[in-house]
Amino acid sequence: MRILLAGGAGYIGSHTALALLKAGHDVVIVDNYCNSSPEAVRRVEELAGRSVEVFEADVRNPSAVLKSMTDKPVDGVIHFAGLKAVGESVRMPLAYYRNNIDTTLTLLECMGQAGIKNIVFSSSATVYGEEAPVPYLESMPRGRCSNPYGWTKSMMEQILEDAALADHELSVVLLRYFNPVGAHESGRIGEDPLGTPNNLMPYISQVAVGRRDLLTVFGGDYPTPDGTCRRDYIHVMDLAEGHVKAVEYGAGRTGVDVFNLGAGVPYSVLQMIRAFEAASGVSVKYVIGDRRAGDLPEFWADAKKASRVLGWQTSRTLEDMCRDAWNWQKNNPMGYPKS
Ligand code: NAD
Ligand code: UD1
Repeated sequence: MRILLAGGAGYIGSHTALALLKAGHDVVIVDNYCNSSPEAVRRVEELAGRSVEVFEADVRNPSAVLKSMTDKPVDGVIHFAGLKAVGESVRMPLAYYRNNIDTTLTLLECMGQAGIKNIVFSSSATVYGEEAPVPYLESMPRGRCSNPYGWTKSMMEQILEDAALADHELSVVLLRYFNPVGAHESGRIGEDPLGTPNNLMPYISQVAVGRRDLLTVFGGDYPTPDGTCRRDYIHVMDLAEGHVKAVEYGAGRTGVDVFNLGAGVPYSVLQMIRAFEAASGVSVKYVIGDRRAGDLPEFWADAKKASRVLGWQTSRTLEDMCRDAWNWQKNNPMGYPKS
């Protein structure tokens, strides 16, 4: 199949592009590089030994998107193009609603014009909201989100569901990611956050490589086994392979399906630090600080549906996640070269 990745130059998109190419699919990317680098795509091509067609454009631009869908026929779309920093979304809610909702509407409208009936969407465990019991199951309703980023995901799921209700030929697969970490085992592509990392793993890696002095652990008094929050970390290559299964699944069906993509096992912040130190041989200096507003004590996936229906499950361990995150960070201490 020929698969269009909106936002395909980013962290998860670039790893998915590689997984799709390795599975024998063709890849076309539309990205405006607002949070990524063309170098990521170049390295994907180098690792796959195949080329990727790239349209440098805003996914809110209908003429550019339509061109990317009709230059050569596209069989499916994976929608990664979004802004994703929770704290920034609280400060700039309109930018988040404008970008995330508009990219989704534009993609759906252009898919309608181009006759493409298969879309896979990057959603998040955050849509379960603040009150859902753990582990999260796909059959649970969406809940109350604590920030605009989360609400955009919840609203985009609703928009996609409504589009599928109105078009009986459309297939929508909503993938709810848990906590993606790590990098491709080559160390050539990985996570390259702009500025100070918001997420745990890139922060740990940047402390380990000497870019930051110390990690603040957000809260040590949660009702968890060691007092720090627990999350369901998933290796980004396992996640990427989940997308290959999802877009292949979407090609043969219609309607909406939701899948949790997680490992189904929670680890605490302190367990993550220790695992990273063991995998890297480098010590990670940290202090226990205040809780971060909006953090939940713990959540993890019930990942059985993806295994049952998609035939997908994670195969990489916590050690693999830490080893590969470190391999990427130490080989690329400042991320991709900036032009
Ligand atoms: P990322 O920022 O690395 O990738 C997003 C890509 O989309 C970037 O390449 C960016 O340049 C592009 N983009 C954004 N707006 C665009 C626009 N208007 N036009 C064209 N390109 C645009 O993020 P990621 O970690 O790879 O996440 C991918 C998707 O998965 C996002 O939608 C994110 O919200 C979602 N998600 C990520 C996580 C995570 O922990 N990384 C967790 C849950 C969900
Ligand atoms: C966060 C977002 C979530 C988003 C996800 C992926 C919040 C409240 N949630 O999830 O909506 O889908 O990222 O982008 O921001 N931690 C530290 N010190 C740090 C960084 C993190 O102790 O410097 C802790 C956090 O308190 C948390 C864990 O590490 O317990 C994981 O944090 P993070 O990587 O930011 O992911 P989430 O908070 O789970």
